[in-house]
This record gives sequence, C-alpha cells and structure tokens, in this order.
Amino acid sequence: MKTAITKARGSIADLEERARSSVGLTLAEALRYATRWRGKTVVIKLGGSVLDQASDATLEDVVLLQRAGLKPVLVHGGGIEISRMLDRLGHTPRFIDGLRVTDADTMEVVEMVLAGRVNSRLVAGIEAAGGKAAGLSGKDGSLLVARPHPSAGSLGHVGEVERVAPDVLKAMVEGGFVPVVSSIGTDRAGTTYNLNADDAAAALAVTLHAEKLILLTDVDGVLRTEGGESRLVSELDLPTARAMLESGEVAGGMIPKLKACLTAVEGGVESAHIVGARDPDGLLIELLTDRGIGTMVRSRAVRSVRNAARSNGNQLPGIESAIAASEEHLFGNYAREPVAFSHGCGTHLWGLDGTKYLDFIGGIAVSSLGHAHPSLKRAIREQAERYLHVSNLYHIPEQAEAARLLKEVSGFDRAFFCNSGTEAIEAAIKLARKWGSLRRGSAVPEIIVAEGSFHGRTLGALAATGVARYREEFEPLPSGFRFVPFNDLEAVESAIGPDTCAILVEPVQGEGGVIPAKRDYLTGLRELTTRVGALLLLDEVQTGVGRTGRWMAFEHYGIRPDVVALAKGLGGGMPVGALLASGEVAELFGPGDHGTTFGGNALACAAALAVLRTIRDDDLLERASSMGRRLAAGIERTAAENPVVRDVRGLGLLLGVDLTIEASSVSTACRERGLLLNAVQPRTLRLAPPLTVSASEVDAALLILREVLAEASSGDLHAN
Ligand SMILES: Cc1ncc(COP(=O)(O)O)c(C=O)c1O
Repeated sequence: MKTAITKARGSIADLEERARSSVGLTLAEALRYATRWRGKTVVIKLGGSVLDQASDATLEDVVLLQRAGLKPVLVHGGGIEISRMLDRLGHTPRFIDGLRVTDADTMEVVEMVLAGRVNSRLVAGIEAAGGKAAGLSGKDGSLLVARPHPSAGSLGHVGEVERVAPDVLKAMVEGGFVPVVSSIGTDRAGTTYNLNADDAAAALAVTLHAEKLILLTDVDGVLRTEGGESRLVSELDLPTARAMLESGEVAGGMIPKLKACLTAVEGGVESAHIVGARDPDGLLIELLTDRGIGTMVRSRAVRSVRNAARSNGNQLPGIESAIAASEEHLFGNYAREPVAFSHGCGTHLWGLDGTKYLDFIGGIAVSSLGHAHPSLKRAIREQAERYLHVSNLYHIPEQAEAARLLKEVSGFDRAFFCNSGTEAIEAAIKLARKWGSLRRGSAVPEIIVAEGSFHGRTLGALAATGVARYREEFEPLPSGFRFVPFNDLEAVESAIGPDTCAILVEPVQGEGGVIPAKRDYLTGLRELTTRVGALLLLDEVQTGVGRTGRWMAFEHYGIRPDVVALAKGLGGGMPVGALLASGEVAELFGPGDHGTTFGGNALACAAALAVLRTIRDDDLLERASSMGRRLAAGIERTAAENPVVRDVRGLGLLLGVDLTIEASSVSTACRERGLLLNAVQPRTLRLAPPLTVSASEVDAALLILREVLAEASSGDLHAN
C-alpha cells in the first residue's frame, strides 16, 4: 500500500514536471485532469510520423499517463511501413477512398509488418520508457471480429469491425500492461482482415467505454477554409462534423478519421480528438490542457473554454492583430520584436501562434523564478484576495516583512520600496545629495558616475547615465554628475573633490554590454569613498537578488557599499524596486523627504517575499552559479570552434557574448528557432534566463545558439 502511494506520488510529480516543462501546464491543471481521469480509459491511435519513428516522447507520455492512473490503450496501423515493404517486394500499393486494396499476398505482408515489426517496436519503446506493454493483434482472443468491408469485392481482405470482444484487453489492463493492438481482425471462419486503424480504435473506445479517443496523425486536425484561408478547427460538435463529411468539406485521409470520431462519440465516448503528431508534446497538450492542440469532436460544443483558450493561443492572426494593435495604439518608443505570447511556464513561453520558446532573456533579467511559478502565483493570488493597496499612509506588514527578509539576505539595516529601477536610482541620488549637504557641507553635491553606464530613464537617473545618445534631446537634465571612464580607478581619484557626495556604479554594466567591474576597481572605489567620506552607491538593479549567483553582485568583490539599488528580479515580474542602506545613511530620509504612492504596496511586496523565500529555500543561488558556469562553458566551447564569437563574460546567469557580426541578426535567428535572448549592444548578445533554469534547458539553448552561430560564420544566416 505504502509503495503504491509513494509510486502514485512519484507519478504525479513526473507528470507535473513534464507538464510544467514541456506543455506549459500548471500543477493545478495537471492534477485536475489527472485526478478527473484516474481509472479512465484513453484509446490512442498512433499514426503518421509517430508510428514511423515510434517517437520516444509520445511513448514516454503514454507511460506517464498510465503512471498517473489513466488506462491508455494503443492501437496502430502501419501505413508507410507496409507500403515500403510491399514496394521492396515488388507490389504496387493501391488505395480506394483511403482504404488499401489487400489481396491475399498483400494481407500476409500487412500482417507481418503490423503484428510483427511495428507492434513489437512499439512494445519495446514503451518498455524502454519504463512502462509495461503487451502486444496483440485484433485476432488474439477474438478481440476484433471482422467482416468484409462493404466494397470488399474490389478491396480484397479489407474488413470492418463487426464486434469487439474486449476480455483479453481488459485482462491486460488489469495486469498493469499498456495493450498495443495492431489493426487486424478475423471473421468467424478465420479469415484475416486488414482493418482501418482509426475505425478499430473507435470500435475499441466504444466497447471499453473510453473517456477519450485520440487519433495521432500527421496533420494538425480538421481544417476549414474561410475567405481563402485554411484554419484549424479546435472543436466540432456532432452535427457540424456530420455536415462537414456530407458536404465533402473534408477529403482524403481525413474522412476515415472524422468518421471514426463520429462513431466513437455517437457510441458514448466523451470526446474524440485528431491531433498532429509532429509536436512531441501533442498528446499531453491535447489531453491535459484546456486549449488543446488539434480538433476535438464531442456531442455538443459544451464549453467554449477550448475555443477561448485557443483563440488566445493558437491562431496566427492573433499575433498579427496584436502587433497591429500595438502599432496603432501605443507610443512608438520601443523597437519590439514581432512576437506576442499567450502564456509561459518555467523557462518556456508560448507565442500566440502556439510556438514554444526557451526564454533566455527572462523579461530582461526580471523573471527570476521563470514564468507562472506556483509560489509566486499563490502569493499574488492570496494577497489579491485580501487587499492590493492602501498607500504608505498606513503600515503595510508585507512591506516590513519584505524589508526584514532583504536585510537578512543582504546585511543592510533598512529598505525603501519603489516601483522600478529608475526610481530606486532617483532615491539613491536624493539620499546621496542629502548626505553631501548634511555631512560634507556641500552646496553643490556632485556624484561621480561611469561612462557606458545605464541607470534609468527618469531625469535624474538619465543625467547619471553614461551614454550620450540616451541623454541628448532631453536636456536640460539635472546637473551634479561627473562622468569618468568605467573600470578606471585613477580617473575616479583625479575626479574626486570636496563636493563629491557619492560614486554611483554598476558592479556589472548590464545595458553597456555585460561588462563586469574589475576587482581592484570596486575595492579601490570602496577605499576611496571611505577615505573622503563619500558614499559608494551600487546600482544592482540588473545584478541583484541572485542574478549573479550571490544575493548581491558586490559579494563577489568582497566589499560592502553604503547603498544598493534593486529592482528587476526582486518581484519576479511584479514591478518593485528597493533601496537598501545601513547606519546613518539609512536614517537620512525623514518624513516628507521622499515617497511614492504605489511603492511597496502589499501586492508588490507579497511577490517580492515569494521571490526571496523561493530563492532562499530552493537554493537558487547555487543553481544560478552552476547553470551560469554551464552556460558560459558551453558558449566558450562554441567560441573555440567558431571565430564569430570573440568573448564570453559575465557573472552567474547574466552573460554577454561579443561577436564579430551583428548581434541582432543572431538574436533574430535564435528566436526563429525558438530561443529568446537579446542584442544588448550592436555586437553583443545578452543572456539572462530565470534562476530556475535546468541543465537540459541550458543545453537546448546552447545547441540552438551553436547552430545559429555556425550558420552565421558560414555566411548562411539570413535573419529578417
Ligand atoms: C543597472 C540598471 N539600472 C537601472 C535601470 C532602470 O530600471 P527600470 O527600467 O526598472 O527603470 C536598469 C534597466 O535596465 C538597469 O539595468
């Protein structure tokens, strides 16, 4: 009993993990389906390329479904392989209305291929995936009793299912086996018939009172042509399906499939599905998500969930209209990529057209826990149910708790919360100026900042940003900033003076191209500021909260700044920024000195708390370090074989890759192959995947990047 429970728990965990990582399904969704269907039969007909290649992923999913408590029954034909064998034996395959003309010789070949080769290959595949399978043909135990097809005269040994005797199948299922049935039957006289596998699957589904019939095939589902454009139909009720058959709207190989769906649903099967087998996750997506991937036939279109979910996730025009709406209604201040998403999960995002992406930019180093992380979702939901916002007129326990946790992980004394990176920098500038005027008696306090830096877009942060092109056209900007070259301690030493109230730098210049500060530089800045009584302000908006494999990037340098600014990863996608300080500096602001209506509201702080706790409890600093090393090492291997890559640098999971070619063409080509990253500088790529990224995701990203760079170096890259 205990073993059974442990096993069941393990299976649910497997299902959850697989569903989360490949299908974009939440735990709640996966469990909802798995629980609803525990003990229910699902008949799955394997056709098309799945059958040809006996796709490992599909067979693994079958095993997974069984472990999660469902009862899968597999049925297969063997179309392509039979034709190949006949071809080899010098027979020319002939079809009438999608049915194979089968004379006695052909029938022998059919049986040999189906019951012999294909069946045993599938059984072996399931066993290899850790399942138990038993192969049988419809002849065994008179499982599929057949009679000649009505047009058998011209079709030879082509039969249709007359009756199903399911005892043998039931015994196998009870014994814990996944039955794998080849679509051959016999009549009472012992004559063997070649059965259409879709029909056989439908007949089995009806007799077994299956919950679902799934036809995995080479096409995506039923297509409908409207206005000259073919669209995949996500859901059909029986009358519509019948009408489509009668009107001739469906043709060729789709006819027996849709007919089989009708037979199944008319026979009491809850729903029948035609699903493209090209997506290795197609089976799970169709079975375990509301949106599905193919065409579902059921007696009535009971719920519009599927269409609603799909219209948000599977139609190309969705993307086009999303882009058009953006262009029509929004300011043109972003050069957006031509993609929009329906949902995400972990390191994956799904485009509105259903394309699955590996997200290695994470909302520009923001999605620290990946997408739709259960803890973050729960925290946001629970807080939203209590209250969102009351303003800083009152005490906000979530804010104080987030501050306490930030103190615990960073060693600072106090926190101030705001909504973004640029606001954290504004607060830091004001704090530094107050320090300058109070402690250094300076009338015109000055902050030393670095060339190539990026601190934000509001006027103060912009004035501190060391890239002229961001500032030009927006002058006059606040004065009081002195620029010196980055990583040049001597330049700072010569610039520092009696009015210097602070030095503001990024430990890794992120937007500048992922350029880490040199160790001597940062330790030198610390000594220098301490000596003259100025503050050392670190902008860790991009590097803070675990991104570099430590809570704060300054830990890599063995120094402690006076003030640190955080944002991006802190809320894991909720807009929240923070300023941390200690001692006297943390006491500088009095009531009325600074503030923000939204800053640190309960919702944002509940999210920050969930992020901080998850990073701490799930050991994500260690993961960020090890995955960062794996990613960097992989890119370095590519660099060794490909001269297009000039340099790889960064800390933890914030990496920059210098190229000899335009980075945007590489990032576009990566995106077209399902990998999201960004061209942070004209010749530099930036990678900032979630801190939760797995080794296999890193390897998958490396593979794409390597291929794209190989094409780039051979001059074959034609990114649009
Ligand atoms: C180091 C650094 N500081 C400040 C900012 C500004 O943050 P936000 O865009 O949240 O205002 C950024 C944004 O990229 C940044 O990387």
